[in-house]
Amino acid sequence: MVGNDLVDLADRDADSRTFSARFDLRVFTDAERASIRAHTDPARQRWRLWAGKEAAYKVARKLDARTVFAPSRFAVELDQRGSGVARTGRTGTVYRLWLTETASRIHVHAISPGADPAAVVWAWGPVRAGDPSRSARELAIRVLAPRLRAAAGELEVGRADRIPVLWLRGAPASLDLSLSHHGGWVAFAALPRPCRQASAA
Ligand SMILES: CC(C)(COP(=O)(O)OP(=O)(O)OC[C@H]1O[C@@H](n2cnc3c(N)ncnc32)[C@H](O)[C@@H]1OP(=O)(O)O)[C@@H](O)C(=O)NCCC(=O)NCCS
Repeated sequence: MVGNDLVDLADRDADSRTFSARFDLRVFTDAERASIRAHTDPARQRWRLWAGKEAAYKVARKLDARTVFAPSRFAVELDQRGSGVARTGRTGTVYRLWLTETASRIHVHAISPGADPAAVVWAWGPVRAGDPSRSARELAIRVLAPRLRAAAGELEVGRADRIPVLWLRGAPASLDLSLSHHGGWVAFAALPRPCRQASAA
């Protein structure tokens, strides 16, 4: 399973001046707050950690529908090479994370334990026609169609309990999908499902 999250640092809601110390206390662990304080760019570090939590939550929620998004329960550690982990205290599950960033945005994808990191396909792109949800779906379909040897018109993104599901010719596709949008940008990440899950889906 895969999850992803995107932060548009140019968006107003990413402006760290609008956040109170209470936000950090509620959302981040002691170690995460220490890493924000110690960083040369604390605002960026805050959003890296946040994106790691959201990406891991999206995987956790697929593994267990009872998971609630309690950010402080996903303890994120990032290294200097753009990878890291999110650990959940409740289940002890460790989600591996990969971070990609530019001057104005951050993307993190997370995978479930045992999943193959080399098999993840992800991309980001701009919001088109003012519709982030649709833009994310169109981006995913455009990039994934050739990999599934399908025409774009044969793919569709549905929702099951708010979680996106990729359909190919009217049946669930063999790829697990995650979508994200923020500000002017959208992203997706996809990962082949193990054969057993694909046929049971
Ligand atoms: C998943 C969630 C954290 C993402 O929030 P966000 O940063 O606002 O949105 P993003 O753009 O990163 O992601 C949105 C996409 O994630 C997907 N998504 C939504 N809920 C999801 C879930 N529970 N698991 C996996 N993916 C989910 C959807 O594809 C959605 O896009 P769409 O609405 O266009 O279909 C948030 O929507 C959510 O479900 N919060 C949890 C609520 C909760 O548990 N509350 C309990 C009290 S703490």
